[in-house]
Amino acid sequence: MNVLIIGSGGREHALAWKLKQSPLLGKLHCIPGSAAIAALAACPEIAQDDHERIYGYCLAADIGLVVIGPEAPLAGGLTDFLTGKGIKVFGPSQKGAMLEASKQFAKDFMDRNGIPTAGYAVLYSAAAARERLAANKKYPVVIKADGLAAGKGVRICASEAEALAAVEDFMERRVFGAAGSKVVLEEFLTGREASVMALTDGESALLLPAARDHKRLRAGDAGPNTGGMGAVCPVEISDADMEIIRAEVIQRFLEGVKKERLNFRGVIYAGLMFTPEGPKVLEFNVRFGDPETQAVLPVIKSDLLPALAACAEGKLAGRGLELTGETCVSVVAAAAGYPEAPEKGRPITGLYDQAPGVQVFHAGTARKDDAYITAGGRVLAVAACGADVSAARERAYAALAGIKFEGMQYRKDIGL
Ligand code: AMP
Ligand code: GLY
Repeated sequence: MNVLIIGSGGREHALAWKLKQSPLLGKLHCIPGSAAIAALAACPEIAQDDHERIYGYCLAADIGLVVIGPEAPLAGGLTDFLTGKGIKVFGPSQKGAMLEASKQFAKDFMDRNGIPTAGYAVLYSAAAARERLAANKKYPVVIKADGLAAGKGVRICASEAEALAAVEDFMERRVFGAAGSKVVLEEFLTGREASVMALTDGESALLLPAARDHKRLRAGDAGPNTGGMGAVCPVEISDADMEIIRAEVIQRFLEGVKKERLNFRGVIYAGLMFTPEGPKVLEFNVRFGDPETQAVLPVIKSDLLPALAACAEGKLAGRGLELTGETCVSVVAAAAGYPEAPEKGRPITGLYDQAPGVQVFHAGTARKDDAYITAGGRVLAVAACGADVSAARERAYAALAGIKFEGMQYRKDIGL
């Protein structure tokens, strides 16, 4: 089977690496791909929102399965367009993608379907938001821009002044454009966080091992929020919590998807807070997490291709995935200036000849004169597997010590 991946980041590099190992794979393609992905897949110069040309490419390259990585093409309806023309796609419909593209839709969906989550209110104007905050006595509160904001549309506000500033930024200054036309005001939850992803064909679900990402820039959870500075998989979840995740999160998600005809064939990502009252959903993503995927895929022993194809075909029931039994620690190396203004164009050395069990997944690199240079904020992730988390950490940091570029920054405490 020929497979086309949509996307260009570290998550897609990891997907390409994993799918490339499948004995069922014919030729691998990736739109738009990256310099590193081009070592594994054909990467035609087509934009990921150019539906017509992607369809034309699927026909010309005899693509049997399209795997969509990022949220933007899902929210843009690429799945609906391609499936409408008979192409098999791993990735939910535009309506299903609303679970990520609109926080209001996601909260209302959870509310309608009895999925545990933080209490909330939707506010449709800055005036309504101010009125509500004036009456609010309990801080912190969480304020979220409704729409897609590249993971930056969430503010934990410790005081009314901070909350008012968030309302002004999101709803009046529109720092995230139309994404801030409404906001969700949410109860602040406390506890540890982890995420659980499940492959689904909209009828049944296959849980992947739980992962934890580290969102802050600096060790000890200090510094600004980022897209993610590293991840660990699996992380331990108690049997009691796991039962709630299965029965009250994933099962109710599936029931909601069926009832509301969301046509969801892909991966559902539940970002969870383990509160004193049990796990609650902080957010849904409708795609593989980044950088979680770079830590999850290395601990999956089974071939991933038949599972993804089964989701696209509505035939997931009864499938399982075998794990390696190891732990993977994936550490992101970011450029100087990340996340505000990352420096680019620095040569990278030490990328090759990694020890067994170590993979380097590229997120923001480019080729210049036969060598890799930095080309993004998060440059790469080193994913290392070991018998336990400390063995995996040791390998990951040993590998990172050999990789160099000017201004490279990474957290030393991933997995601790
Ligand atoms: P989200 O994009 O909705 O997952 O939010 C990003 C991060 O903000 C989460 O990973 C949490 O650390 C934090 N967060 C979001 N919602 C809440 C909440 N209701 N209570 C506490 N922290 C939250
Ligand atoms: N790592 C969180 C996300 O992919 O949104």
